[in-house]
Amino acid sequence: MKPQLGTCYYPEHWPQAQWKEDAKRMADLGLEIVRVGEFAWSRFEAKPQELNFDWMDQAVDTLGSEGLNVVMCTPTATPPRWMVDKHPDMLAVDVNGHVRKFGSRRHYCFSHLGYREESVRIADLMAKHYAKHQAVVAWQIDNEYSCHDTVISYSEAARIEFHKWLEAKYGSIDAMNVAWGNVFWSMDYDSFVQIELPNLTVTEPNPMHSLDFQRFSSDQVVAYNKAQVEAIRQHSDAPLIHNYMGRIVDFDHYKVGDDLDIASWDSYPLGFLVDRTDADDDWKKRFERQGDPDLQAFHHDLYRAVGKGRWWVMEQQPGPVNWAPNNPAPLDGMVRLWTFEAIAHQAEAVCYFRWRQAPFAQEQMHAGLLRPDSQPSAVFDEVAQTASEIKQLGDVQATQAKVALIFDYESCWAWQTQPQGEDFDNFVLSLEFYRGLRRNGLSVDILPPTVDSLEGYSMVLAPGLLVWPARLLSLLETYSGIAVLGPRSGSKTENFSIPDLLPPAIPNFDCKVSYVETFSRSSDRALVSGGAVRTWLETVETKEKVIERTVDGTPVLIGDQQLRYLAGWPNGEAMTRILGNLAVEAGLGIIDMPEGVRRRCTGSHEFVFNHNAQAIDFRGQSIAAAGVVISSLD
Ligand code: GAL
Repeated sequence: MKPQLGTCYYPEHWPQAQWKEDAKRMADLGLEIVRVGEFAWSRFEAKPQELNFDWMDQAVDTLGSEGLNVVMCTPTATPPRWMVDKHPDMLAVDVNGHVRKFGSRRHYCFSHLGYREESVRIADLMAKHYAKHQAVVAWQIDNEYSCHDTVISYSEAARIEFHKWLEAKYGSIDAMNVAWGNVFWSMDYDSFVQIELPNLTVTEPNPMHSLDFQRFSSDQVVAYNKAQVEAIRQHSDAPLIHNYMGRIVDFDHYKVGDDLDIASWDSYPLGFLVDRTDADDDWKKRFERQGDPDLQAFHHDLYRAVGKGRWWVMEQQPGPVNWAPNNPAPLDGMVRLWTFEAIAHQAEAVCYFRWRQAPFAQEQMHAGLLRPDSQPSAVFDEVAQTASEIKQLGDVQATQAKVALIFDYESCWAWQTQPQGEDFDNFVLSLEFYRGLRRNGLSVDILPPTVDSLEGYSMVLAPGLLVWPARLLSLLETYSGIAVLGPRSGSKTENFSIPDLLPPAIPNFDCKVSYVETFSRSSDRALVSGGAVRTWLETVETKEKVIERTVDGTPVLIGDQQLRYLAGWPNGEAMTRILGNLAVEAGLGIIDMPEGVRRRCTGSHEFVFNHNAQAIDFRGQSIAAAGVVISSLD
């Protein structure tokens, strides 16, 4: 595969006279892909049924005449003002019962069937119009589902659809009362229509009420996306893409991905370091201008799984953004590093957001590849260099990693619903397992919990999995590698109850959790062999061999055969040591990576990245700050 570069372009923001020059400069820079249209509904349809695609036709022709490939977007993340007049109840409602008004973007509720129909209508019209256009090579549906916290809506539309969803799931209200355990606190219902949405209750709602509402809300995103997929598919065979976000877990991305051809995500490493990691201040300072060394890689691997091997970065940060609490500029070389890092994780394309900085409206302080005066921005030459290096790189071959990590969205919802300790977060737990693997120089594949085969993996990790899928349990029974099961795994049933076997509820593995303690980060429990347990520690009854204990004797790592159970959450030091030891037992070669240096191997190349702001010695070689070393594996 030969990776391509691209950019996000808004022809509607610029005079038509500028388009030709823009297209030419994009091509000269070495870009091949241009994404357009995702916020342009008011220009496609200024008044209901008054359609105008002429201007976009000309923009696409202009881009195409320079050999650029266009990704056309459906504009459904920004319904025009008249739409809200037509469907006043399409707006989402927040947890406090307040309507989320028109005036920015993503102002719709996924459950509003009238708005869903309008979205299908515009998708259908656009697909009919652009399907035969040679320059249009792919479609993006909507923009960043869930950005600005927009999956959960407590609207009347959501309430009505939730009733239907519950009835379809349970069949009878009695069955639902039993499944939820509504005998507790006299919460029994007589009919589905009595059920409110789980906000504004006096104290916490029944966890099954919350969890089912989250499952329902996720299904609404899947259904909304699928409706547009079906509309476009009537006219076009071009690949369908969505651009997901970083650390957004409130819908099941695997299920949305099942209806699409390519997954993509929007990577803003500096903003995400501040507002989407739980790192401490020293770490944030150290990587302020580089971003977290594992967070982007984690998402790359996750979205490779969501796209079943096919994935892009649809928006890559090119300079300071406008939306984080503070917005530093990337260190020189980081935009190049992020680009090669995506390629190392087998991205087909990386597109920079955006071509030219807008001098007006919300994002006027957000850098682009050009300044508002059309002069090159600080990163322009770095992108030119990266583009020419990518051309020389040739094919990057995909390969399966030897280590797999199972990441599950439902577990994120479940542990948010009842965290038991304020720091228990399934995304962070999974990221810390991932970080521990990468600190040992290992390349990782992320898998969904519905995985059908573990063949080729010497080690598989399942941190914090809510419920054991039957297929996964049976795969584990005959697995010949090492399976590392993280704390809280298998600790609930589908109905969010404690299983009869008691957690971790693995048949033929003699281990039962008697009780759980949670504690703050300042109360870490030291381990005999180094490092500590943070946040979560179980007390277990077991006849399996105990490999690691806290200094006061509580078993933490249990089992010496195929299954290893972690009855606590190891901190960074312990995680790296424990996972390194287990990888060696699984027959894998490990490398003690200097902090901030990471590597990944594809089928054809080894990539090493220095995320530090200083040069670092690694394997007898000095790697510059923000440096990338690429070696062919032939
Ligand atoms: C993304 C979004 C873009 C733009 C960008 C700014 O989340 O998709 O439209 O707002 O952030 O960083």
